[in-house]
Formats: sequence, structure tokens, C-alpha cells
Amino acid sequence: MARLRLGVLVSGRGSNLQALLDACADPDFPAEVALVISNVPDAYALTRAESAGVPTLVVRHKEFADRAAFDAALDAALRQARVDLVCLAGFMRLLTEGFVEGWRDRIINIHPSLLPAFRGLHTHEQALEAGVRFHGCTVHFVRPELDDGPIIVQGVVPVRADDDADALAARVLEVEHRIFPLAVRLIAEGQAVVEGNGVRVRGAIASDAVLINPAP
Ligand code: GRF
Repeated sequence: MARLRLGVLVSGRGSNLQALLDACADPDFPAEVALVISNVPDAYALTRAESAGVPTLVVRHKEFADRAAFDAALDAALRQARVDLVCLAGFMRLLTEGFVEGWRDRIINIHPSLLPAFRGLHTHEQALEAGVRFHGCTVHFVRPELDDGPIIVQGVVPVRADDDADALAARVLEVEHRIFPLAVRLIAEGQAVVEGNGVRVRGAIASDAVLINPAP
């Protein structure tokens, strides 16, 4: 079966891109990275893509008159590369409604919180400030509203009493690297289907583990 062609949008260090590249290195994984686009010319993510032999493109947002023109350039590049699924992997630009609707149910994002809690930036600081006992990450289909859309996979980590934002971020990031390729696989295999505001995952077995923090 043909592998799903991924277009990955990045702006920074690209550790989530790396997780996708590593997953795609397995010939049995049902997707491949067709193109990596960065709006930041010196993003380390581009080096990772080049090392993996994947085509890269820099589209500098500053060179466009407005968001619509920038997004049109992204859209054209993705379509030219025959991308099936757009993956936002630390892409730090807001996308226009026109772009997002043009890729409806074919664009996903990884966000470092258990959505709908803690949208936007500084999610680990937000979690510590709120005093939650569990935190985590979410892969979701993208809708025009920021950090909104049907949830595909979430991963949970405990918040420890002595955590600072960096320690918490590192714990969450490890889980991000697991759930992003998992979400891509579910989509590629046709197992994750948008239904209303949610996603039905065929054959999924929910864990019945109960987590209590602090442990009783
Ligand atoms: C990750 O925490 C991701 O959840 C968020 O931006 C960060 C990107 O990190 N959207 P990296 O560039 O993938 O290492």
C-alpha cells in the first residue's frame, strides 16, 4: 500500500520532526516525510531533515505582504510535493482560516498540554501555576481556532512536587515523541476518523489504569 506523504512544518529544534523521521525509517511504517518546510532559515529542524535525506524548503514569512500570501506559498509547496497530511511540529506561525479549511481533517498539530487545558504558549508554566497533578500532550486535527480541533491521541505525565518548567517540559517531550508517530500511523491506516467534535479510533483499547497523584 502507498505510504501517506507527510508535509512537516517546523520553526525550531525539530525533535518532533525527528520522531517522525525515525518512525518513517521503518519500511513497515505507513507514512513517509515528503517535505519539511521551515519559516526560520537556521532552524535545526532543517539539519535533521537534510541528514535524513528529506527535501526541505525555507519559506520566510517576512518576505510576504500578509498571512494569506505566506499561507498561499505554503499551500502551493505542499500540493506540489503531493502531500497527503500536514504535520505541525513546533511551527510558530498562526495559520489563516483559508489555509486550515483547505486541509480540513488532513492537518494535525502536536501541543504540549492536555487540551483543552492550557492553550497557547508556556504550557508548562501554565500547568505549574494552575497546580494540576497531571499534565501531558495532545495530537489533534487543526481547526482555525488556536489549539482547537478533534483530539486523536493524548499522553499523560505526573507533575512532581519539585518540578520546574524545564523538568516538566522534558518529561512531556518524551511522550510527545511517542504519540506524534502513533497519531500519524492511526491516520495512515484509516483507523482515526473525525466524528463530530471528536475522533473515533477503530479497534482502540483504552487503558483501564487509574492514576492518582500524589499516590495514596
Ligand atoms: C513541542 O513542545 C511541541 O509540542 C510544540 O512545540 C515544541 C516543538 O519542539 N508545538 P520540537 O521543535 O519538536 O523539538
